[in-house]
Amino acid sequence: MAYRTIKGTHDILPDETRRWQQLENVVHSIAGNYGYNEIRTPVFEDTGLFSKSVGIDTDIVSKEMYSWEDRSGGNLTLRPELTAPVVRSFIQHNLGVQSPLQKLYYIGPLFRRERPQKGRQRQFHQFGVEVFGSEHPEQDAEIIALAHHIFEELGIKNVSLKLNSIGSGNCRKNYRNALMEFLTPYKDDLSETSQKRLETNPLRILDTKIPHEKEIIHNAPSIADSWTNEDKVHFESVQSLLSGLNIPYELDENLVRGLDYYTRTTFEFVSENLGAQDAICGGGRYDNLVEMLGGKPTPAIGFAAGIERILLSMAMNEQTDDHESIYLINLEETAAMKALQMAQELRSNGITVYMDTKRRSLKAQLREANKLGVKKAVILGEEELKNNQVQVKDLLKGVQEEVSMDELLTYFTV
Ligand code: HAM
Repeated sequence: MAYRTIKGTHDILPDETRRWQQLENVVHSIAGNYGYNEIRTPVFEDTGLFSKSVGIDTDIVSKEMYSWEDRSGGNLTLRPELTAPVVRSFIQHNLGVQSPLQKLYYIGPLFRRERPQKGRQRQFHQFGVEVFGSEHPEQDAEIIALAHHIFEELGIKNVSLKLNSIGSGNCRKNYRNALMEFLTPYKDDLSETSQKRLETNPLRILDTKIPHEKEIIHNAPSIADSWTNEDKVHFESVQSLLSGLNIPYELDENLVRGLDYYTRTTFEFVSENLGAQDAICGGGRYDNLVEMLGGKPTPAIGFAAGIERILLSMAMNEQTDDHESIYLINLEETAAMKALQMAQELRSNGITVYMDTKRRSLKAQLREANKLGVKKAVILGEEELKNNQVQVKDLLKGVQEEVSMDELLTYFTV
C-alpha cells in the first residue's frame, strides 16, 4: 500500500464516527444550555501568536509546533491549542464591544509534534470554552460546572478534578525564580531533562515522575506563598462555590500547567482509566492574555478537553439505534422507481431506510439487514408489486405480514 496516515495521526472510521457525533451533540447541547455560542477559527495562524501567548520556553512552542515559512514570507503554524486563536479573534472582531460577557465554545483539531503513545497524538481534537469579561469566582465555578456536567452526561466514570491557584500578576514569574533558586543547589541530583528545564522552564519539574526528584520537590517553596490577599480570597471563593454545587475537587499545588498564560485558578480533570496521559481536560484563568496580545485589559478563563482521551476513558457505550430503521428490499429491477419513492417518503418522515443498490439476492440483503441491527425489513417482489403491497418482516421474531403500500407510512409512524 503506497500511502498511509502520517505517524501520530488517525483516520476516524465509519464505525467510530457515531461515538464522535454523540459526544459532539452532548457538547453542543450542554454548552448551549449554559448560554455559550460556538466559534470556529482557521487551523493555521501566525507563529508569533503562539510563541507570545503559550510562551517561548514551553514544550509546545520550543519543540512541538508544525511551523513553516509561507511563500509570501511570514511564518505560519498549525494551531497547537485554541485559546490564543480565540483571543486573537476576540480582539480582531471587537467581540468585547458586542457583549461585555462573551461566552464561546469550540470543537476542532489541533497539532503537536509529540511522541505518539496511547492518548497522545500529533493530530488530536479538543472541545473547549473561553469566557471573556468576568474576573469573579462565580465564572470559574460556572465553567468547571460546565465541564463536569458534560463528563457526567457522557457517563465518564473515575474522573477527579484537581484545582490550584497560581496567583495574579507576577506571581507565576516570581514563583519561577523562587523555584529556580531552590532547585539550583540540587542541580547535580536532577535528571538530564530536569537540568535543562531548570534553565528554561523550572515549573515543569513539578510534574516529575522520578521518586528522588519528587522528594526534592516536596520541600520546594509553594506557589501559595506568592499569592496576594485578593488571590487567596478569590481562590477560597472558587472552592466554596464548587462545594455548594457538589462538585468534588482535590487541591494540588503542583498544578501549574504547561502553558505560560495562566493566572489564578488552574484545574485539570484526570481519569483513572488512562495510563500516563491521564488528563482529559485542562484549563484556567488568563487575565493578562487579551491585553498582552493587543486588546483592552479583559479578564478571561477557559478549558479544553481532549476528545480522543475522553472516548478512550468512556465505557464503550452500546450503540443503540434509538430511532426506527428499516431495510427496504426490492427484488424487481423494474420497481427501482417505486422503491426509491417509498424510501423517500419514509425518510422524509424521520425514518432511517437502508436500501441495496447492488441488486443483491434476498438472502444477501437480509444478512446485511441483520448485520446493521435493523429490526424490520420491507420486501417488494413481483407478487407484491402486482397487488400494490409489501411484506413487512420482523427480523427478530421471524414473522411477516402483508401491508398495503398506501398504508406503509402509517404502519411505521402511528
Ligand atoms: P492543554 O492542557 O495543553 O490545554 O490541553 C487540553 C487537553 O487536550 C489535555 O488535557 C488533553 O486531554 C488534550 N491533549 C493535549 N495534547 C494532546 C495530544 N498530543 N494528544 C491527545 N490529546 C491531547 C490547552 O490546550 C489550553 N488551551 C486549555 C485552555 C483553554 N486553557 C484555557 N482555556
